[in-house]
Amino acid sequence: MKFIVCENYDEMSTKAAEMYKNLINSKPDCVLGLATGDTPKGTYKKLVEYYNAGEIDFSGITTFNLDEYYPMKKDNPQSYNWFMNENLFSLVNFKKENINIPDGSTDNPEEFCENYDKKIESYGIDLMLLGIGKNGHIGFNEPDDQLITGTHVTQLTESTIDANSRFFSADEQIPTSAISMGMVSIIKNSRSILLIANGKGKHDAIESLKDNKINPQIPATLLKVHPDVTIICDKEAYFG
Ligand code: PGA
Repeated sequence: MKFIVCENYDEMSTKAAEMYKNLINSKPDCVLGLATGDTPKGTYKKLVEYYNAGEIDFSGITTFNLDEYYPMKKDNPQSYNWFMNENLFSLVNFKKENINIPDGSTDNPEEFCENYDKKIESYGIDLMLLGIGKNGHIGFNEPDDQLITGTHVTQLTESTIDANSRFFSADEQIPTSAISMGMVSIIKNSRSILLIANGKGKHDAIESLKDNKINPQIPATLLKVHPDVTIICDKEAYFG
């Protein structure tokens, strides 16, 4: 794992966006793995700036998003579909048919997950962007004794429900389940992985990535088996 430690959130976001820009400019039909949350917002903002300056073209790019709440309608402002439209998709020139996000409104989630994995496998992901939870989760791969390999429906932990409650108003129900790419779907199908993290709250999770230990109770540690992982984080996440 390669660490790049930045002064602050803005520098982290710029460095992450530059990695995407370089990839897109050298491979205009590349496949991107994308994540939601507060962490990648700055990266997406920079990508939109590059697009507005005529420095990137997204028209040949295919994307796969990491996760979505379940059940969740696409037009719900809390959905990850909505987040991606607000922060990136509607602001640049992706082709709609090249965008893939887990379908939170499917009637048959098991079949959906199987097909999502097949599609990811057939495309391969050139660069997978990941955030990390305070508890070390990746997407909605939560701490567990066992490893769920592929894209799956999962129950969220109390810690994740708590962390996400900040996005919901008091009268809204916070979803307790989600569809998430599995750790093996991510590791097996991504050529390169870019994990971004900022703030003291992520320090323990980042600390767990500095040694060689693997522990399914800290799902991000499983990424250590991948040969090409870059972690771009700010000083607070790195040093605490
Ligand atoms: P955050 O979430 O970017 O909102 O901190 C990251 C995550 O939980 O994966």
